[in-house]
Amino acid sequence: MRQHGRISRVLVAVLWLLALALVAHAQATITKTSFGKTDLGENIDLYTLRNTHGVEAKITNYGGIVVSLKVPDRRGKFDDVVLGFNNLADYLKPGPYFGALIGRYGNRIAKGRFTLNGVEYKLAVNNGENHLHGGIKGFDKVIWAGNKLKGKAEGPALVLDYLSNDGEEGYPGNLHVRVIYTLTNNNELKIDYSATTDKDTVTNLTHHSYFNLAGEGNGDILNTQVTINANRFVPTDAGSIPLGELRNVSGTPFDFLTPHAIGERINQDEEQIKFGSGYDHTWVINGRPGVMRFAATAYEPTSGRVMQVWTTEPGVQFYTGNFLDGTLTGKAGKLYQRRSGFCFETQHYPDSPNQPSFPTTTLKKGATYRSTTIYRFSSKR
Ligand code: GLA
Repeated sequence: MRQHGRISRVLVAVLWLLALALVAHAQATITKTSFGKTDLGENIDLYTLRNTHGVEAKITNYGGIVVSLKVPDRRGKFDDVVLGFNNLADYLKPGPYFGALIGRYGNRIAKGRFTLNGVEYKLAVNNGENHLHGGIKGFDKVIWAGNKLKGKAEGPALVLDYLSNDGEEGYPGNLHVRVIYTLTNNNELKIDYSATTDKDTVTNLTHHSYFNLAGEGNGDILNTQVTINANRFVPTDAGSIPLGELRNVSGTPFDFLTPHAIGERINQDEEQIKFGSGYDHTWVINGRPGVMRFAATAYEPTSGRVMQVWTTEPGVQFYTGNFLDGTLTGKAGKLYQRRSGFCFETQHYPDSPNQPSFPTTTLKKGATYRSTTIYRFSSKR
């Protein structure tokens, strides 16, 4: 009898523990820890967002960088699918923009110059003769004010605010930027951007995660199959500056209207492929800019992981990590070789301030810039 009593007490305790574990798992959370200090002694935070399915994103307020993103494969095994570093010190060095927020202008502005309201503005030149990703100290290298957004039904969310001063990197106007990262309970990383200015300026914000759906450090991305919802892409010159035309993808290695392995045509003897050293171009997403629509999908056959990209932006820069060269050591201690990650940077077309035929990137005083992008994760057999 006494024996039975003990067994049932143990059973009850075990059941309680199981129930607690289930509740803990089902609870969406956001917590904050320290990510270290900058060289100037500023404290940097690391936020951990967890949704009800156990999907987890770690995001720092330094550059708004997504440091890790753990999602399940077809068997339910979680892996970190973004490239990056374990510690702040590695992010402080000049690098390939791993996981960062990019601004004020994603991608290039030719010769670092543009004219707005009859005034020529000279920007920092940091990519040959051109301006790239907001300049020498872009939004990827600044400290954002971070706040947990509580009570959002969609999932845990982090608000990041940054004031880019008039004249910063050469841009006019005090630009208030707000980015909200939400890890939804539908296994999506959703990024909402907004910005306002006190003087007309240009704005083109994006996000620069390098994905490897087999897990970061787990080889190259050449077998990942990609689909891009675009009949046209933006061809460039040898310096990656748009020619001004939008070119039909049909009959070119840029046709991803049906799924193709990234590696299938990446070394083809084709001028645009050579200019980009692989894929490093903007695709013109079909449908109406400003309206949330399907942009691209990537499927990694060994893990079964699928990532869909949805956006309100007119374009998506598909970059295949062509400049990674095996000199950076990633989170799992493995060297990041060439093409070991790919980016889907949703954005306006490069050099729009100098290209009258492209959709405008001018943000008027008093207007609000808005943009949303969703990276949705799932798996298939
Ligand atoms: C973008 C650019 C590339 C490169 C990467 C970062 O994708 O188009 O040329 O600068 O960012 O290395």
